Amino acid sequence: MLTFDVATRWIDRWDRQQEGYLPDREERFTALIDAVEAGAGRPDPLVIDLGCGPGSLSARLLDRLPQARVVAVDADPLLLSLGEAAYGHRDGLRFVHRDLREPGWTEALGLGRPADAAVSTTALHWLPEPDLRAVYAELATVLRPGGLFLNGDHMSSEDTTPALARLERALHESEERRRFAAGRPEDWRQWWDAIAADPDLAGIASPNPATAAHHGSESLHLSTHVEALRAAGFAEIGMLWQRGDNRLLCAVRP
Ligand SMILES: C[S@@+](CC[C@H](N)C(=O)[O-])C[C@H]1O[C@@H](n2cnc3c(N)ncnc32)[C@H](O)[C@@H]1O
Repeated sequence: MLTFDVATRWIDRWDRQQEGYLPDREERFTALIDAVEAGAGRPDPLVIDLGCGPGSLSARLLDRLPQARVVAVDADPLLLSLGEAAYGHRDGLRFVHRDLREPGWTEALGLGRPADAAVSTTALHWLPEPDLRAVYAELATVLRPGGLFLNGDHMSSEDTTPALARLERALHESEERRRFAAGRPEDWRQWWDAIAADPDLAGIASPNPATAAHHGSESLHLSTHVEALRAAGFAEIGMLWQRGDNRLLCAVRP
């Protein structure tokens, strides 16, 4: 039985591990939630969290917007179990186990009405470009007109503006040096190895081996996302927040 305390401890450790890759992760969460709050047009927005992991973003969204309804979808059973144990009791939050690469994933969400926003952090770069295009096209069918898509991720501009891309990377590395002068947090591999060895977690859902092995860093270019969103029919597409190549990309469904 995975307890609330054990799950919370592992999610805290997950958050530290993720900050090792993006020191300004909390700042980006805050900017993303500011945008949902400002753009949803109602105090109780329906929000989809794509590639939610253990629910770090979903939980922060509900902390700020307690009347929101968040449907959080991910393909990894272990991360979803942590999220369920830590946050499953919260009104307004539902976790769904689904691989976004499988067409028809929106049917499993049980939305009941068009969503006001879809959000994602550090997840969609995993998808190969054809899958990313299919995900954005399907997403557009469940967002209301004027609904927002907000994607926080590292997205490089090296294919279009290589000199800027070098500077963006340099900014990121400078921030990492400042933030981790006293030592880096554990990395992705160390976190997965540690969780596999924890006796408190014996018997809970196994991780998807592809997640633990980090199956892909496929759609790393900003242009890939912008073009896929445009092809999916999104209208205004642009950056709401950025530090180096760490971006918050926003697209509006017409
Ligand atoms: C680096 S984690 C980020 C999790 C969370 N959004 C956060 O910011 O902490 C990437 C997540 O994307 C999920 N993911 C990757 N490919 C996926 C897919 N095809 N379908 C659903 N989830 C996927 C992984 O399982 C993992 O939880």
